[in-house]
Amino acid sequence: MDVILAQINDLHGFLPTRGTFMLDFVFVAMIAMIPVMAWSIGLVRYRRRYELHKRVQVGLALILLVAVLLFEIDVRFFTDWEALAAASPYYQADTWCPVWIALVVHLLFAVPTPFLWAFVIAQALRRFPRPAAPSAYSRLHIVRARVAAAGMLLTAVTGWIFYWLAFVA
Ligand code: HEM
Repeated sequence: MDVILAQINDLHGFLPTRGTFMLDFVFVAMIAMIPVMAWSIGLVRYRRRYELHKRVQVGLALILLVAVLLFEIDVRFFTDWEALAAASPYYQADTWCPVWIALVVHLLFAVPTPFLWAFVIAQALRRFPRPAAPSAYSRLHIVRARVAAAGMLLTAVTGWIFYWLAFVA
């Protein structure tokens, strides 16, 4: 596993930025995530395709779980992101600067959102009928799931801002 990740990193990123392969991959995955999630919510809202909505949401969560795990291993053990950000006019080591502020704001959303998703999915799987359909749990799911979806959207937007400040500017 370590060797594979180290080799992936040697490939450099595939975007014309200072990002590594994994940073670019997560950046693009977060962009792709938003329209898929919007489509999945539209499936229940306008077309009553509840079972398909369930599968898409569980699928998205699994893909994100793998991406986030690989990403975490990468930035913790292989990539010195601060060295990559050093060329940015918005970065200064060891002091508050736009890059650090953007990272903290991003983490405020990025850390709780996966837990919220796990909770929303576990409860939905337990409390909706099979195949998935509206039930007495609908009201609570709609409130919780909207918060979870907003958390994901804000994680993505704040992540893009951080990526731009650190690795593009
Ligand atoms: C984190 C994952 C999920 C998110 C973000 C999510 C998001 C949403 C949202 C925003 C709505 C409301 C749409 C509206 O405004 O009318 C909704 C409805 C619904 N979701 Fe999910 N969902 C998730 C997972 C699931 C799962 C795993 C299931 C099934 C086990 C499920 C079943 C349903 C059903 C049946 C409805 C329709 C409720 C009704 O209108 O009575 N969802 N979902």
